[in-house]
Amino acid sequence: MGKRLGVLLSLALALCGFAGAGEKLVLGFIVKMPEENWFQMEWAGADRVAKEKGFEMLKIAGQDGEKTLAAIDTIASRGGKGFVICTPDVRLGPAIMTKANSLGLKVITVDDQFVDGDGKPMTSVPYVGLSAYKIGNQVGQAIFDQAKARGWNLNESGVCVVTFDELATAQERTGGAVDKLLELGWPKDNIFYTAQRTTDIPGAFDAANTLLTQQPEIKNWGACGLNDNTVLGAVRAMEGRQFKPENIVGVGLGGAECKIELEKSQLTGFYGSAFISAISHGIIPTEMLYDWVVNGKEPPKETKTAGILITRENFRQVYKEAGME
Ligand code: GLA
Repeated sequence: MGKRLGVLLSLALALCGFAGAGEKLVLGFIVKMPEENWFQMEWAGADRVAKEKGFEMLKIAGQDGEKTLAAIDTIASRGGKGFVICTPDVRLGPAIMTKANSLGLKVITVDDQFVDGDGKPMTSVPYVGLSAYKIGNQVGQAIFDQAKARGWNLNESGVCVVTFDELATAQERTGGAVDKLLELGWPKDNIFYTAQRTTDIPGAFDAANTLLTQQPEIKNWGACGLNDNTVLGAVRAMEGRQFKPENIVGVGLGGAECKIELEKSQLTGFYGSAFISAISHGIIPTEMLYDWVVNGKEPPKETKTAGILITRENFRQVYKEAGME
């Protein structure tokens, strides 16, 4: 290669590189609880897509309304074209959309669907969530099957249903579990509801404790709720009241928060979880957003993912298949 050609070539390459760097696509991914494994896995999935497609992914925590709106500003100021979000409060939906629209950003919601001023789901915004009712059914089935396998007398066995009705997805999850339990023949009077104020372990612990005080005659407990942390909180409350692992069947939901629990050498009251691939909840909406921004392909208004039961027996295999090991 001649010297001049070489110089020209490197100049051209340098220019391309420069232009490429300047125009690199930027997208955002905002989550309400960055400390949860669930959301870290979502971010990992989002990063995977960003790496594959060669764009920059801004992962920002939005634990409240103020932080969320600031996160949207940050994405816009970095030249971002859109974002995926699990909002800290579904009622922020209209404010988030007003802001995003004014900044020309595309929005996809994940896990928790926005609601409008009347509390109705904002179905105009693409939503990726889990098929909550069906996964709830799986939880109910697992509790029932274990109770039977352990030979529990259902007349002296209760189910502690920790509720968080502010979230539609949570209502569907616990509703699905209860419907299945009733269908299978769990006595209606032995299904007890207790509301958690916050969706973390302490919130569920407190809720379950209140219930346990009110129902001292129950000998065996099933536990279900919105997610793994909810059920972990309920199980800890039961253990704190001297119930043995053999007398507790806690079945979580999500499966990203219970790894340590299932790895414990000692049996605990946490039996298993209806697992959903949290990574896929990062990958799916990110791919959709990318396709929307780059190729103009509008995402479907609703995408639902399914679950599988993990227990001490199979969780390692399932994690591996989901790319979580
Ligand atoms: C809600 C819960 C999370 C997780 C997701 C999964 O946002 O708060 O812990 O379960 O749903 O969809």
